[in-house]
Amino acid sequence: MNGGCSIKVLGLVGSPKLDGNTSRLVSAILEGAAENGAETVIYNLASLDIKGCDACHKCQEHGCCVIDDDMQELYTEIRTADAVVIGSPVYMWQITAQTKLLIDRMTAFLRSDFSSRLDNKKLVLVFTQGIPDRDAFKPYFEYTAGLFYYLGFDVLDTIIAAGTDNLEVTSRPRLLEKSRDLGKLISASNLPGTRYRRAESSLTPSM
Ligand SMILES: Cc1cc2nc3c(=O)[nH]c(=O)nc-3n(C[C@H](O)[C@H](O)[C@H](O)COP(=O)(O)O)c2cc1C
Repeated sequence: MNGGCSIKVLGLVGSPKLDGNTSRLVSAILEGAAENGAETVIYNLASLDIKGCDACHKCQEHGCCVIDDDMQELYTEIRTADAVVIGSPVYMWQITAQTKLLIDRMTAFLRSDFSSRLDNKKLVLVFTQGIPDRDAFKPYFEYTAGLFYYLGFDVLDTIIAAGTDNLEVTSRPRLLEKSRDLGKLISASNLPGTRYRRAESSLTPSM
């Protein structure tokens, strides 16, 4: 997909903490992918200049957004990635504002008939939350996965790290190891698609 020989895995972190729980989990997935020979790239959305969609709808015609900001670089990164990992902490029961800006601007991947320009691009979602009950936001994570399907992604897996305020992911070696394993999995060149959505990872039960 990226024009080279290796699989490219792109990580997008929606936490303002550059070295927080979300960033560490996304990084662990990318580490696993790199161990498997993949090219990996990671961005922290809070460090980028990403403006809100201004609803001009010009992108629907040609797939190009007219706003000249760092999203232009991310459009290219997403288009050329074989797999994308998007991580967000839960803020006020939802994804962070930084992650929402990214998603709104992804409207450029939709045509005027709302079909997607992305060809079932592989996606892994990572959510972190302070509350220890890992089911607390499950319907919301399902809903969010559904949104990414609509945008043209194939959501392979969703990692939920619950209770991170009391127990940071750095103290959870199993979760980090499973994240690295997931990175190896998504960087396999012959990975079949799922075409259905999952609210939680089959690889990371009760962690
Ligand atoms: C403004 C704000 C709002 C938050 N809202 C929630 C919430 O609604 N539910 C929850 O479980 N945790 C909430 N949290 C906790 C974060 O989700 C949690 O600390 C997360 O692991 C932070 O990820 P990070 O280390 O990558 O920044 C909130 C944290 C902040 C700063």
